[in-house]
Amino acid sequence: MGIKFGRQTNFGYLTVPEDSKEPYPAEVEASLREDAAAIIARYPQARSALLPILHLIQSVDGYVTGRGITLCAELLDLTEAEVSGVATFYTQFKRHPNGEYTVGVCTNTLCAIMGGDEIWEAVSEYLGIGHDETTEDGKITLERIECNAACDYAPVVMTNWEFFDNQTPQSTIQLVDDLRAGNPVAPSRGPAQVRTFKEVSRVLAGFHDGLADEGVGAGPASLAGLEIAHEKGWEAPTGASWAAQADAPTTSGAAEGQAPGRPEVTPASPEAAAGTQAAPKATDPSDEASGPTAKDEDAVTDVDSAANETRDKVYEAGSTGDDGEEDTK
Ligand code: FES
Repeated sequence: MGIKFGRQTNFGYLTVPEDSKEPYPAEVEASLREDAAAIIARYPQARSALLPILHLIQSVDGYVTGRGITLCAELLDLTEAEVSGVATFYTQFKRHPNGEYTVGVCTNTLCAIMGGDEIWEAVSEYLGIGHDETTEDGKITLERIECNAACDYAPVVMTNWEFFDNQTPQSTIQLVDDLRAGNPVAPSRGPAQVRTFKEVSRVLAGFHDGLADEGVGAGPASLAGLEIAHEKGWEAPTGASWAAQADAPTTSGAAEGQAPGRPEVTPASPEAAAGTQAAPKATDPSDEASGPTAKDEDAVTDVDSAANETRDKVYEAGSTGDDGEEDTK
């Protein structure tokens, strides 16, 4: 089966290649069937195994081939149209040959503001390819991403779903140069080295590579909220108190202005009053003395940072520059 990498504008490259329906060699098919059986055994209904088996197909073929779709349909008692419908719905599944490394530049709101658009334009021009196109050497598939889910390190670029934080046009061009040259590349968080698209696809199929706990899991920016919670002595509501809150009549269950749904544990909450959940401790002495004030309606989210203290002073001075927004988001 031949592999043609290409650009969206070259008609035919991004349609399913004709030869992608060629049968698997016997030993490859036997191995696929064995792995697929292990995946199917995890689910009460075989059809629930479709997503991981599509990843398994990509771990062998590098994309969802016609022969892969035929095999999925047979194994899971689905029609080929049903399998195709799923494979074309999720962007992680490719219906045309994918590069060894998918490089995704986030151009969603926060990353765009922080420089994501400039990164995209620079790397796209440098490689001479656009969205979902692949360099002729088959090394890099470039994608515009709608949020890499790592906004606290914007602008973020991913390579095969590993994070590269706080990127610049120069650092991203260096990244693709290293990937194409075969140099070892380490993400900002996660394993010591980025794995190939096929290797990662096998992990997504549910076959562990032993690297899940390698490297840094979360950086300081991601942990800032947790540290504030520890500092303030906040805890997540217990399952029982959540259920009680959910069952309570809405007229008495929520404080005025509190959003429905997730109960908040505030000094005035029913849980705190009933003693079923420790209320957050006020670390600001003035909060303890006077309780929540108009300024501190957001007492639970009020962070005693230097920036907020400056803001509080402005508020107390009656500055009209205050927009009434919460102190922290
Ligand atoms: S906006 Fe870029 S990671 Fe969320």
